[in-house]
Order: sequence, then C-alpha cells, then structure tokens
Amino acid sequence: MAKGGTMEPPAETATDTIEIRDSRTDKSYNLPIADGAIRASDLKQVKTDDEDDPGLLSYDPAFMNTAACRSAITYIDGDKGILRYRGYPIEQLAEDSTFLEVAWLLRHGELPNQSDYDQFVHDITYHTYVHENMRKFLEGFRYDAHPMAMLNSSVAALASFYPSSRNIFDEGERTISIIRLLAKMPTIAAFCYRHSKGLPFVYPDNDLSYVENFLSMVARMSEPKYEANPIFVRALEVLFILHADHEQNCSTSAVRAVGSSHVDPFSAMSAGIAALFGPLHGGANEQVLRMIAEIGTVKNVPSFIEEVKAGKGKLMGFGHRVYKSYDPRAKIVKKLADEVFEVVGVDKDLEIALELERIALSDDYFISRKLYPNVDFYTGLIYRSMAFPTEFFTVLFAIARTAGWMSQWEEMLLDKEQKIARPRQIYTGPAERPYKSLIEHRHTVGPRTQKDALRQ
Ligand code: CMC
Repeated sequence: MAKGGTMEPPAETATDTIEIRDSRTDKSYNLPIADGAIRASDLKQVKTDDEDDPGLLSYDPAFMNTAACRSAITYIDGDKGILRYRGYPIEQLAEDSTFLEVAWLLRHGELPNQSDYDQFVHDITYHTYVHENMRKFLEGFRYDAHPMAMLNSSVAALASFYPSSRNIFDEGERTISIIRLLAKMPTIAAFCYRHSKGLPFVYPDNDLSYVENFLSMVARMSEPKYEANPIFVRALEVLFILHADHEQNCSTSAVRAVGSSHVDPFSAMSAGIAALFGPLHGGANEQVLRMIAEIGTVKNVPSFIEEVKAGKGKLMGFGHRVYKSYDPRAKIVKKLADEVFEVVGVDKDLEIALELERIALSDDYFISRKLYPNVDFYTGLIYRSMAFPTEFFTVLFAIARTAGWMSQWEEMLLDKEQKIARPRQIYTGPAERPYKSLIEHRHTVGPRTQKDALRQ
C-alpha cells in the first residue's frame, strides 16, 4: 500500500494475517489482512470476559487511517505526488483530453470511443437548459448572497423537478440524472453569477463547447454570439480536468455518506457542494486571495509567515491530508498561470504568492510538516485574471467536481459491501440519572390539543 494514499493492487496472499494479543485477557487473535488493511469489524471478536462487552472498536476521528470503501476511480500516492484517473496520469489528461472525455472516463472506467463521445457531448449539450421556475427560485436570493449558497440550494431544488431520479437502482435514471447534473451545473452557476451582478440571465448556446458555453452564459452582453478567448477556454478546460475527482476527500465522502441513505443524486450532491464550500476544502481558493490581499505587499510576507508559525492562522493553499509532497495539480496550475498571464499580463499579487511559496518551501516549520502548495494556491490568481470574482472560485471547482461526485456516488450504490453510512462513537456523557426539571412548565400542550393542531 502506498503510504498516505490509496492502495496499490493487493500484494498479500489470502492467508496473510496479523496476530493481536489482548493484554486484558491474554488471548490472541489472528485477523486476516487484505489489500493492506484489516477489517475494523474483525476487532469485534476481541472482548473481555464481561458479557456486556460489545467488542473492540477502532477509533479514528476524521478518518485519518481508515478506508471506508474500495474504489477503482482515482489513485493517489501522496508521498510521490502521483494522481491518476482510472490509471491515466493527470499530467497526460491535462495535456491532451477534454473535461467531458474525463467525465466519461471517471464514470465508465475506460476512455470513450468516438461514437460514445459524440453521443455524450450531444446529450450534455441538449440538457443544459433549466426549468424556468429555477429563475424565479434564484431571483429570491439577495443580491449579495454567496454563489456557493445559491448553487447548493439550487442543486438540491433540482430533486423537486425530477422526482423519478429517486429510482436510483434504475440505470437509465442514474444516467439521465448524471447527464442533467453535468449539463445544468454550468447554467446554474452562470445564473448565480448573473444574479449577483444584477445582469439578465444568458441562456445556453448549443453551438458552443461545454466551456465556451459556460463562459458565454457568464460574460455575454449584447453581442449576438459570444467568442471566448481561446487561452481562457483551454485554461478552464484544464482546471476542470484537474478538479474532476480526488478520491475520498471531504465533499466526496459527504456525497457517498448522504447517498448511502438511497436519497436521490441531486440531494446527495448538494451535500457535496456544502462540504466543498468550507475554507479547509474548496473554499481555500477564495481564502488564498483574501490572505494575499491582507498581506498587501511582498515586504510583509516574512512577518505573515512568522504569524502562521506562531499559530495565528494558516497559510491557505498549503498543506494536504494526503499529499506530503508537491500536489501534482499545483505544478500544472502554476505552469498554466504563466500561459494565462502571458495573455492578460501578470497578476499584481503573483509576486506575493511566489514569495510566500519561496519562503515556506525553505522554512523548517513547513518542511518538517511536509506542507507544500496544493491545487488551490495558484488557481485563484488564474480565475481572477479571467475576471471571475473571488467568491465565485469555489463554484468553478464544484462544476468540475460534479463528474467525480457522480462517479463515486454510482460506484458506492453498486458496491454490494456498502450499506448506510453510520459510524460508531465512544460515549463520553453522563451515566443514567433521574430527570428533575429546573424550569417552570407554563405552556404545556396536551397530546390531544397538539394532534388537533397538526390536523388543521
Ligand atoms: N498553514 C500552516 N500550518 C499548517 C497548514 C497550513 N496551511 N496546514 C497544516 N498545518 C500544520 C498544522 O497546524 C499541524 O501542525 P502541528 O503538527 O504543529 O499541530 C500540521 O501542519 C499538520 O496539519 P493537520 O491540520 O493535522 O493536517 P490535516 O491533514 O488535518 O489538514 C488541511 C489538511 C488541507 C485541512 C490543512 O493543511 C489546511 O488547513 N490547509 C489550508 C487550507 C487549504 O489550503 N485547503 C485546501 C486543501 S486542497 C484542495 C481541497 O481539498 O479542496
């Protein structure tokens, strides 16, 4: 097994075991090892002589060392800085593929042939429109609503437009839901943007590619046909590919956990969007630019780094649970930033970002903790140079991650070993004690009255 990453193909034989001796009872147990793991449920047999002992639990807050599923989608080796989708290195996909090709690959496990791809692009293109009621729904938000809050509620609302999506074990229903989500995410995202700017909504243009159409819905004004800058189109395509999946991260785990209740995919995905919103996850790209703005100038970088080292905040865009070397996506993003800046001019804050990176990578605090720039460190600068507002950055991440969320959701549903996600706990509260109220009960509603009220 790759340390800090997902598992390599099994190296063990079926007879490999680990012996555990329980010092409480002096009993020994042989637990099977498969794929570099023991099953936590095998620990249940490890018990004391107390007949009420439910058996040994494994305790792992934040899943630091627990695999919750088997997955054939994304492989990460955090020590070596390797990321592959279905076996294909991220560098090669970023260089040569398209986002929709990657979305197909993630779900189906193989690259699409020409006719699969043409049909898929056609299906996505013809499902980009959203129900007109969605407009009214979006108009209900305040002008300054955060676009991630709007996106999250709008995706959850899609469940009400497509009730048959609840038939999650019907392959056709899953396919159309996944197509709808991939197709409508750019439309909803662009509508959120236009709403916050007070601009009229721009409807999808079926003649354009996935990324061009998105940029058209975001930026088109009175021109009859929007022509996006090809450098921006390719940059966004690459960024979408880089963000398409990242195995069992916080938002994907949220989609899997909520989806494991067998709810519809729109509701499951809105849980993923909620998780992505957080500043420790997808919200970090937004926080990087806020941090850089706070630093203000290159000469303030050393004192800012000292504050981080003193525990007064984090260096946003640095560190990762799995990568303990340079995030391979960040390398690609840094190169991409150079290409974009050649066209639009160097971002005014690039100098601060480069200085932060230079100092951090030579400072023992960051070296000893293996803290390197992650994907979010430079993406914000690219998005800003394309004129996206800071609070919109995580929305761009969410559009791309839709491909991974849905592939992981379907893999979870079809995995015979999966059940409703339901972790155990170690109870630390009081033992049983008798109830004795400390308040005066003035407004008690009798059961009959309450029942009558509910009937009305
Ligand atoms: N700046 C300063 N110190 C840090 C940072 C950072 N960005 N990240 C981790 N550390 C320190 C942390 O304080 C701890 O130090 P100590 O051992 O002295 O207590 C040590 O490094 C280990 O960190 P941790 O918090 O145990 O690591 P984790 O795996 O729980 O957290 C992380 C991973 C990504 C949440 C964290 O590195 C972080 O908060 N980074 C900043 C936010 C960020 O950039 N998030 C984007 C992640 S990549 C894209 C995505 O997932 O969306």
